Amino acid sequence: MNRHPPVIRDFPHMLHGCDYNPDQWLHMPEIIKEDFRLFTAAGINSASVAIFAWAALEPEEGRFEFGWLDRILDYMAKQGMKAVLATPSGAKPNWLALKYPEVRRVNREGRREPQRGRHNHCPTSPVYREKTAIINSKLAERYAKHPALGIWHLSNEYSGECFCDLCKEAFRRWLQRKYGTLEALNRAWWTAFWSHTYTDWSQIDELDASVHGLILDWKRFVTDQTADFMRHEIAALRRHTPHTPVTTNMMGFYDGLNYWKLAEHLDVVSWDNYPAYHGRADMPEIAALVSMAHDLYRSFRGGRPFLMMESTPSVTNWEAVAKLRRPGILRLTSLQAIAHGADSVQYFQWRKGRGGCEKFHGAVVDHAGCENTRVFREVAEVGGVLKRLDRVVGAASKPSVALIVDWENRWAIEIAQGPRREGRDYLGECRRHYQPFWRRGVSMAVLDQTADLAPYRLVIAPMSYMIRRGFAERIAAFVQNGGVFVTTYWSGIADENDCCFLGGFPGPLRPLAGIWAEEIDALYDDEENIIIPEPENAAGLGGEYRARIFCERIHAEGATVLARFSRDFYAGMPALTVNAYGEGEVYYLAARADDRLLDDFYQNLMIDLEIPRALDAELPPGVTAQCRSDGERDYIFVLNFSGESCRIDLGDTVYSDVLTDTGVTGTLTLPPFGSAVLERAHQG
Ligand code: GLA
Ligand code: ZN
Repeated sequence: MNRHPPVIRDFPHMLHGCDYNPDQWLHMPEIIKEDFRLFTAAGINSASVAIFAWAALEPEEGRFEFGWLDRILDYMAKQGMKAVLATPSGAKPNWLALKYPEVRRVNREGRREPQRGRHNHCPTSPVYREKTAIINSKLAERYAKHPALGIWHLSNEYSGECFCDLCKEAFRRWLQRKYGTLEALNRAWWTAFWSHTYTDWSQIDELDASVHGLILDWKRFVTDQTADFMRHEIAALRRHTPHTPVTTNMMGFYDGLNYWKLAEHLDVVSWDNYPAYHGRADMPEIAALVSMAHDLYRSFRGGRPFLMMESTPSVTNWEAVAKLRRPGILRLTSLQAIAHGADSVQYFQWRKGRGGCEKFHGAVVDHAGCENTRVFREVAEVGGVLKRLDRVVGAASKPSVALIVDWENRWAIEIAQGPRREGRDYLGECRRHYQPFWRRGVSMAVLDQTADLAPYRLVIAPMSYMIRRGFAERIAAFVQNGGVFVTTYWSGIADENDCCFLGGFPGPLRPLAGIWAEEIDALYDDEENIIIPEPENAAGLGGEYRARIFCERIHAEGATVLARFSRDFYAGMPALTVNAYGEGEVYYLAARADDRLLDDFYQNLMIDLEIPRALDAELPPGVTAQCRSDGERDYIFVLNFSGESCRIDLGDTVYSDVLTDTGVTGTLTLPPFGSAVLERAHQG
């Protein structure tokens, strides 16, 4: 395992930063002066600037005002800070939006956005592209040599879709490139259904929800068009700053864009992390989902460090009930990001504005304006912690388990009509399969169906309803070579166009899994079936387990039955099977099983496959451990999300506590929401 280079060249530190909006305070220079004093006090070494500053940078068409930004970047350079410098396309200035209506998005009802809010430009509009190219080039040209320039922050949270005529025309051109002829498109989309056969490209109506191939292609187009807009932004920067990395802040598992297609054009990926802790949901469940997202972001760029571009230092302003983050949570969730491969902790926002709808969103500096607050002290503490973690910058992790969470599959599952209208919950099901590994301190890659599976020992792909081109072949090769593959009910149903496989489900996975899934039963929320393991089964399961929501009637065709349903008319039919294929094995779980079954099943599999854990220790419930390594030293992050104090038996290994510089052996004790970073010699 090698160390990756730092995200910002010649800046081998964990970034500790924030969204910083001096453009809101230009009339109060004393505040800006104070900001720079407080940055030092909080251990802040970077700031994301100009994200929504277009109106301040170009107050009138063609008239630019860079003086204020010059001063801010100069102050930053003087303090040794790095700028995460944004392109301002996330919000359009009024003069631009009103003079050129085409830059404003058109919604599903055909109404043009009247210039309100933000994140609502048309990705196709030539005028918007021209104007963003101009402002981006000016920024890049002006600051190319500026010592504070660290990394470009493209726009803000690209999202949404536009139904204007320009976008619709672009969609038709996209379809023509993809299909060539209408015949090919009609066949792919199964348009004979309800007499939807198209005889002219102009007949295609992107809002027609009855043609699923069309809906999927529209979503793919929206992703491609957004990526194309993003690349256009990048091109304008590259001309002047060919070596400055670019990133854009993404939103976890945001459904609207297939982020893999954005990630491939970025030097560094980053995301905005706003878990609703202290809500009604179980904290370890939320924490596991956040970890799964962190693993996704690390996986996007083949294991390279990513940035946690935003997180709140206290509350958000959009949760139904905005509870204060309890003491310790900030440090815990900050270390969680680093544990999974982030090389930053950044906040939204530095200072609460006086007005506007985000004035009550958590910030490092409150309206009181001083450092004498709980939140400021906690942020400063994180600043101190991060300073001690310079040695972790660029350190990698080496997962031997991969979880497939595929955007296109998720879209197809969501648009399907049946077998249940609600509660299909693909993402939740992925999290349930992730959590048994999380709670044992096992590192995971989170990939999509296009990934190379060769580096892994175990690949898990729950609910693989859609099998994208090449996926079945890659699984077959992976298993043939000794890999273990796990999939579940409602897999192998449809191809990329959402056309069902003929000849028996799970379609192309049928010979691999050695089963035939004849039909799927949907259960009401309060119903259940019971799964009884076979005596002496190879999965090591015992007792009984519950199945909910979905139960499939499957037949073993060569696979060994490990457990069976015990109720309803399919009592006695297989619920869990394993099939030997080549050198490897394929497991098929025919129901949404309870957490206990998943936990027991994966625990046994982890032991069988000798899957490495960060710590060779039993972790209490709600606690995870994650390891990063530079090949010589291992850094183990131990994170307690249980809300109770806990003790972990570390055995004989000698660790040093990175944050306190003390030796640790025997027992590690963590307070509620406590966290620790342990170092040891690398274990290969
Ligand atoms: C998003 C945006 C920020 C801010 C925060 C508030 O992540 O990128 O500008 O609105 O949400 O939580
Ligand atoms: Zn448009």
